[in-house]
Amino acid sequence: MKKFHLLPLLFFPVIAAMFVTGYAARGQAGDGDDECVKCHREKTPFIVADWEASKHATTEKNKAGCAKCHGSEHNTAENRNLAKMPTARTCKPCHIKRFKEYENGKHALAWDALNALPMTMKQPEGLIKGMKGCGGCHRIGNMDREAVAPNRFSSMGCAGCHGRHSFSLKEARDPKLCSACHTGTDHPQWEMWSASKHGIAYASAPDPHSGAAAAGRGPSCQVCHFPDGDHENTTAWGFLAVRVPEDDAAWMADRAEILKAFGVIDAEGKPTALFPAIEKLKLARTKKEDFAALREKQIGTCRKCHAENMIRERFKLYDGLIREADGVFAKAIKVISGLYGSGIIAQRPGTPVKGYPFVLDFYEVDTEIEQKLFLMFEEYRMRVFQGAFHENWDYCQWRGWAKMKKTLVEIEEKAAEMRAKAGK
Ligand code: HEC
Ligand code: HEC
Ligand code: HEC
Ligand code: HEC
Ligand code: HEC
Ligand code: HEC
Ligand code: HEC
Ligand code: HEC
Repeated sequence: MKKFHLLPLLFFPVIAAMFVTGYAARGQAGDGDDECVKCHREKTPFIVADWEASKHATTEKNKAGCAKCHGSEHNTAENRNLAKMPTARTCKPCHIKRFKEYENGKHALAWDALNALPMTMKQPEGLIKGMKGCGGCHRIGNMDREAVAPNRFSSMGCAGCHGRHSFSLKEARDPKLCSACHTGTDHPQWEMWSASKHGIAYASAPDPHSGAAAAGRGPSCQVCHFPDGDHENTTAWGFLAVRVPEDDAAWMADRAEILKAFGVIDAEGKPTALFPAIEKLKLARTKKEDFAALREKQIGTCRKCHAENMIRERFKLYDGLIREADGVFAKAIKVISGLYGSGIIAQRPGTPVKGYPFVLDFYEVDTEIEQKLFLMFEEYRMRVFQGAFHENWDYCQWRGWAKMKKTLVEIEEKAAEMRAKAGK
């Protein structure tokens, strides 16, 4: 008799352990995930396959099951509209460090920067909400789905780089990832890098120094812009290559013309209503310490493969190119400004600074000469410094500097023609 009472007691710890671990494993997968997976294995088999191969499914701790990202309200084939679509904030609880870096960096500002420009309102809806033009690339900074309603499927924030549902680190470390957005007219970093000594060396030996980042013999975008996985992605000069104030007085005078053409200071040099956006959206560097800190961080990335002296020398020369380019650009701005002043061309209503072109309206202008100024700003000036920083001699020289000089001649000649025609 006694035996029969003791046997279950002997096995109790084993049964209890099985129960606890089994329960715990299911608990980690979370809120009804088994049901999601079971049904979706039939309905969308490759989504489940990608997820099952991902760290989110295979990790021991803190597993991210379907419901962690999509909620558990939707649970039948009929109520699929209840499934939630994730944003960067969905990833935050499990990836706080990366979230904070992203939030402090430029990618998180991409949506607001786009919407700060008056010209965005003038674009066809398909390019913004349709996520094909400006909206397609800039949603990488959108953390608020309501802003793009009714577009429910639009992979924003982190998912701009971490493709569902594999969320593969290998894919994230591939420089091709960046080419989806960092390409074309005004930011051809992909084209410049892939045809540079760095890109070529990377292509010939992609991963011999494997470590934190995808380091090849030559550096990938990630080696220079995600040092140790850091997601801040902010550079010293930034897209517009503008910092204020500038110690060099002649350069500062040219910079002032450019700031007027950006609509942020008026003809007398006083800040306009657009000025605060420059600081808030980090469109320009307004603090010397910020510029210096970002520059030192960047130099740190080169030091793995190059001598410090070589890098400092190079950066000084590259910064000098921005100065030269600003000189040409400021000259062209003054020519157009003169045409407004003499009433030869008219300013569009709503232009922020009286007597000045507004280059942040891009191609939304009325005359050929203003289109030329737009290209000088958006395409050629960008290529001079972006080409230098990305070690691409062709972009820097022929597609950048040479085009700036050619366009200045065209603008001056056209202005003279227009003046002669108007008898002024
Ligand atoms: C009984 C089957 C079933 C279950 C259980 C189920 N789903 Fe679905 N789910 C579907 C079907 C069917 C669709 C629509 C697929 C299609 O359009 O091809 C869908 C669509 C979705 C979508 C896309 C939303 C949309 O508007 O189409 C998401 C996200 C999703 N499911 C997540 C989940 C999650 C998370 C769970 C578990 C909490 C879950 N599903 C449970 C059948 C199911
Ligand atoms: C419930 C927690 C949780 C959520 C929510 C979550 N993750 Fe993860 N994620 C993890 C865990 C755990 C790992 C594995 C960590 C490890 O192995 O070091 C991981 C790994 C990753 C990896 C690295 C994959 C690899 O191959 O090493 C990426 C990239 C990633 N997550 C991105 C995301 C993104 C983007 C989101 C939001 C859309 C997200 N995660 C949401 C828990 C989560
Ligand atoms: C192919 C992707 C893509 C498209 C399309 C695109 N952008 Fe961008 N945009 C970018 C990238 C990438 C950057 C950053 C480039 C850099 O720093 O060199 C950027 C930078 C900007 C910036 C500057 C932000 C800053 O911090 O200086 C503004 C403003 C902007 N874009 C507005 C627009 C507008 C308006 C449109 C549509 C007319 C547009 N973009 C279309 C990818 C895109
Ligand atoms: C780490 C977060 C994460 C997890 C875990 C996750 N998803 Fe998703 N899922 C996403 C993201 C991000 C999107 C894209 C949303 C968008 O388009 O804006 C998405 C989109 C979807 C879609 C619709 C988009 C399409 O391509 O048709 C379905 C269906 C879906 N998920 C099902 C699932 C199922 C089933 C699971 C579990 C096996 C799952 N998801 C787990 C993040 C996640
Ligand atoms: C501009 C592209 C980009 C965006 C946006 C982005 N990531 Fe990443 N992520 C990367 C790259 C590149 C790596 C690989 C870095 C390396 O080489 O170690 C990475 C790596 C990761 C990893 C792997 C483990 C680690 O910590 O390094 C996680 C987790 C992760 N990202 C989470 C996120 C989250 C969460 C967000 C949004 C808040 C996000 N990422 C936004 C490009 C991006
Ligand atoms: C050898 C390192 C290196 C590599 C590789 C590299 N960059 Fe850069 N990148 C830089 C430097 C240096 C700057 C300018 C920093 C400054 O302003 O001081 C820069 C600037 C940028 C900028 C701001 C605008 C500009 O072009 O000046 C963007 C955007 C950018 N890089 C994206 C990329 C992308 C995308 C790739 C890969 C296709 C890439 N970079 C590869 C070093 C690198
Ligand atoms: C989905 C589109 C998209 C992808 C993919 C993407 N970026 Fe960006 N990136 C942008 C946009 C848009 C901006 C401009 C944001 C702003 O300034 O408001 C930007 C800005 C940047 C900047 C900041 C430049 C500055 O002004 O200081 C760097 C550096 C950068 N990206 C590097 C990368 C690298 C490296 C990758 C690949 C690992 C990458 N990005 C992938 C869209 C993208
Ligand atoms: C992972 C290693 C690595 C990193 C990091 C790296 N480089 Fe390079 N760099 C190379 C290699 C390899 C070459 C090609 C050398 C050759 O072919 O002689 C090269 C070539 C160059 C050249 C051309 C030299 C010449 O003879 O004209 C310059 C300039 C340069 N790098 C600057 C930089 C700067 C600036 C940074 C940081 C922003 C940087 N590199 C980061 C590996 C690297």
